[in-house]
Amino acid sequence: MGQWGRLSRMDFQDVVRRRRMVRNFDPRPVDPAVVARILDNAVRAPSAGFSQGWGFLVLDTPEDVARFWEATTPAGAGVDAWSAGMRRAPVLVVPLSCKGAYLDRYAEADKGWTDRDEARWPVPYWHIDTGMAALLMLLTVTDEGLGGCFFGIPPEQIPSFRKAFGVPEDHTPIGVVALGHPAPDRRSPSLKRGRRSADEVVHRGRW
Ligand SMILES: Cc1cc2nc3c(=O)[nH]c(=O)nc-3n(C[C@H](O)[C@H](O)[C@H](O)COP(=O)(O)O)c2cc1C
Repeated sequence: MGQWGRLSRMDFQDVVRRRRMVRNFDPRPVDPAVVARILDNAVRAPSAGFSQGWGFLVLDTPEDVARFWEATTPAGAGVDAWSAGMRRAPVLVVPLSCKGAYLDRYAEADKGWTDRDEARWPVPYWHIDTGMAALLMLLTVTDEGLGGCFFGIPPEQIPSFRKAFGVPEDHTPIGVVALGHPAPDRRSPSLKRGRRSADEVVHRGRW
C-alpha cells in the first residue's frame, strides 16, 4: 500500500489481468456514481499537447440504449447471439474524437503548426488519445467488478447514429464501450488465436 492508501478496489495487476471483453449482461442498472467514476477516469487519459479533443456520449436509459441499437443495426439484420447479449448492457458510452481540436491546439504559438497540415501527424493522435480514454474506462469497469466490451459501429450506420443523437460532423465515434453487471457469456472465437507473448513481439536493440 502506498503513501496515499489503497484507492483502487483491486490490485492494479489484477485489473489488467482480469480485464476482458464481456458480451452478455445482467440488465440490472449500474450505480450512477460508478458511471461517474468511469467517466472521471476517462478524462485522466493522456493527450497530445493536452488537446483533449474527445467527447463521450453516455446512453444510460433503456430508451436511449434502444435508440442506439435501432440506429446502428443494419436494415434487415436480425438479433444474433452477439447482439442479444450486448443489447442487455444498461450503459453505453460512445467515445468520440475531434480532429479539429488537435489541429487548433497545434496551431497555437508553442506548437506552431499554423498550416494545420495533417501530414505532420505520424498517426491520427485524436483517435489514439480517445482510445486511451476508452481503455481507462475498460480498466475502471473491471476494477468496479463490472463487465465491459469495446465494439465498433459499422461505418454505413454512422450517419443514422449521428442523426439519432445529434452528433456533429466534427466528432467521430471511435467505437462504443458497453458496460454493466456481467452475465455468463461465450468465449470469443478470436481468443483461439492465443495471446502473442512479449517474447514474440518485443524487439530489443534492433528489429
Ligand atoms: C479497436 C477494437 C475493436 C473491437 N471491436 C469489437 C467488436 O466490434 N465486437 C466485439 O465483440 N469485440 C470487439 N473487440 C474486442 C476484441 O475482440 C477483444 O479485445 C480481443 O478478442 C481480445 O479479447 P479480450 O479483450 O477479452 O482480452 C474490439 C477490440 C478493440 C481493441
